[in-house]
Amino acid sequence: MREVNALVLENKIIAEDVYSLTFSTKERLPIRCGQFCMIAVGARPLRRPIAVCKVDGECVTVCYRLKGEGTRALASDYHAGDSVTVLLPLGNGFYVKDGEKRVAVIGGGVGIFPLISAIREYGGKKEIAAYMGFRNKQAVCMEEEMRKNATLTIATDDGSVGYHGTAVEAFEKDFERFKPDVVLACGPTPMLRALKEAMKDKGIPVYVSLEERMGCGIGACLVCVCDKTNGAHARVCKDGPVFEIGEVAL
Ligand SMILES: Cc1cc2nc3c(=O)[nH]c(=O)nc-3n(C[C@H](O)[C@H](O)[C@H](O)COP(=O)(O)OP(=O)(O)OC[C@H]3O[C@@H](n4cnc5c(N)ncnc54)[C@H](O)[C@@H]3O)c2cc1C
Ligand code: FES
Repeated sequence: MREVNALVLENKIIAEDVYSLTFSTKERLPIRCGQFCMIAVGARPLRRPIAVCKVDGECVTVCYRLKGEGTRALASDYHAGDSVTVLLPLGNGFYVKDGEKRVAVIGGGVGIFPLISAIREYGGKKEIAAYMGFRNKQAVCMEEEMRKNATLTIATDDGSVGYHGTAVEAFEKDFERFKPDVVLACGPTPMLRALKEAMKDKGIPVYVSLEERMGCGIGACLVCVCDKTNGAHARVCKDGPVFEIGEVAL
């Protein structure tokens, strides 16, 4: 993990309320899929955790949805040529085992972004089916990027494009055809709960990336602690953010 004074290369809108920020870390860092970074926005004491979406050599892209003051300031105050302080890479990331050839990737909302890094890492090496859920057509982004390395099913809540329903429902409908060896997922908690229910008797490993409020991002402050199903606790930033779905209470 490093604190990097990165150079902003681009910070642009890619869908309604969603931005893509690309910065150069000036040297190639060992970042794997599913890891995240903590971005300092102005003088705010807390950095914002954002998943790494793409890595191309020294260039790292993160995508973020406008939520509160931090992400709004990130969108309005950072332009090409500015510097941005980033802590990365953080967390454990996604791992797909050698014997797992068919990978289902299920994302909802901003949860699609860490999964794009997994599609990029395993694309060409595994067969990937991606089921990505959005609110509506205006929210759809990174479609071309996903289609490069995965068979993509888009689902929208209002049916304005793709499957009318959730990404988990689209995945369930396609389950017998695709027969995945492993499932990777990230999205809102209700989506992960629905996935846990859908997969409970399937005997297939399911790994989920959790989003918790974070303070430090490096395991020191315990702001991000979540409950495990065995009664223990885990720090999402350091022990996760990726967990086997049965391991964590959702
Ligand atoms: C591991 C991880 C990866 C993430 N990846 C992405 C991503 O790729 N794209 C994206 O758009 N969002 C992502 N998020 C959520 C993102 O961190 C929050 O949307 C963001 O911090 C909101 O900051 P804000 O100042 O705009 O909102 P505010 O609500 O004003 O934030 C106030 C405080 O609460 C924290 N906070 C608020 N919501 C969240 C949240 N959902 N998760 C964690 N902290 C939160 C903020 O960091 C800040 O410290 C990720 C979160 C985690 C934990
Ligand atoms: S955010 Fe501080 S311990 Fe996880």
